[in-house]
Amino acid sequence: MLSIKSNGYNVEIGMQVFKTISAFLKNNNYSSYFVICDENTFQYCLPQLITNCVKLRDAHIIEIESGEASKSIEISAHIWHTLIENKADKNSLVINLGGGVVSDLGGFCASTYKRGIDFINIPTTLLSMADASVGGKTGIDFAGLKNSIGTFTQPKAVFINPHFLETLPKRHYENGLAEIYKIALIADKKFWIELKTSNPENNTELILSKSVALKNKIVLKDPFDKGIRKILNFGHTIGHAVESLLLGTKEELLHGEAIVIGMLIESHLAFQKKLLSKTELSEITLVFKEVFDLKKIKPINFNSLLELMRNDKKTLKNKFQFSLLNKIGACKYDIEVTETQLKKAIDFYNTSV
Ligand SMILES: NC(=O)c1ccc[n+]([C@@H]2O[C@H](COP(=O)([O-])OP(=O)(O)OC[C@H]3O[C@@H](n4cnc5c(N)ncnc54)[C@H](O)[C@@H]3O)[C@@H](O)[C@H]2O)c1
Repeated sequence: MLSIKSNGYNVEIGMQVFKTISAFLKNNNYSSYFVICDENTFQYCLPQLITNCVKLRDAHIIEIESGEASKSIEISAHIWHTLIENKADKNSLVINLGGGVVSDLGGFCASTYKRGIDFINIPTTLLSMADASVGGKTGIDFAGLKNSIGTFTQPKAVFINPHFLETLPKRHYENGLAEIYKIALIADKKFWIELKTSNPENNTELILSKSVALKNKIVLKDPFDKGIRKILNFGHTIGHAVESLLLGTKEELLHGEAIVIGMLIESHLAFQKKLLSKTELSEITLVFKEVFDLKKIKPINFNSLLELMRNDKKTLKNKFQFSLLNKIGACKYDIEVTETQLKKAIDFYNTSV
């Protein structure tokens, strides 16, 4: 078992984590428990949790439909109603059992209900274990904009049980790997080398601990996203645009899949800016081609992509702002990039995959 100290709470990682959850519940005398899950975590994760944590046998279960569409004001209202109907008070605990959708939504509902009640995260996808459950960002999508409404609220604890990954579909596993590679690229060259020379599936617990510890170090320095935390956006400026562009189409991508494309294009931007060497660019390209299934960006989509990026809040007068690698294991933020450089980088991506 490993314990990482974050902003007023601990992240506990290990196969024996149910014991730690039971101890946490025993030490904190909550008046009632509300477990938020989706149909998949209801089926695959909830039985294990309840069997191993007796205090949760009488917990209220709030099951939502899986998928990003549940991060909505309507589902939030449904959760608040359920809390009210079941007399949740200031001393109740919300338990988010699921991927990033459940932790973002459940954290948001808990942080606003009666001006905030306690919640804990029990992440069940690789992405939420390595990334979404740590750092205190909660939120929902609103008016067609992702994460446009939300709060910065820290959970009371995060409990990571890598066992839960056994039932996670392969595509979602790779989705999470993208954020793990990202954290290595921006913050730790040694970790990058470890990832590229070993099979992460053989060492999930260790890899998760490293990635959580690295993200934690960054968010502790900048809890409200004003400066250094922006390096976590590496791959995301392009990635978000690609994700939005393909949303609702047959080629729709998961977040991590779009971020991998973003990281490659942005690595070329870093190369053009003389921040990253040709050798490093080739190394990143080679590794990503081996690990991920990369699709070309159709020329027809190029202009729409630029349009989406022009509308991005980080764009000022056609100058795009990026977080770019300045070598493998280090990253800078607020770097200006022109449209011409962007075009070159997308061409590079399309000819490399
Ligand atoms: N708050 C943050 O810092 C932060 C960071 C990154 C991403 N996010 C958010 O996270 C969300 C994406 O999270 P995600 O990738 O975990 O997606 P998700 O929550 O939609 O889960 C992916 C799929 O896996 C299923 N699932 C979950 N656990 C399972 C298990 N153990 N076995 C079988 N199936 C399982 C879910 O039902 C769902 O179908 C996005 O909304 C994104 O905005 C938040």
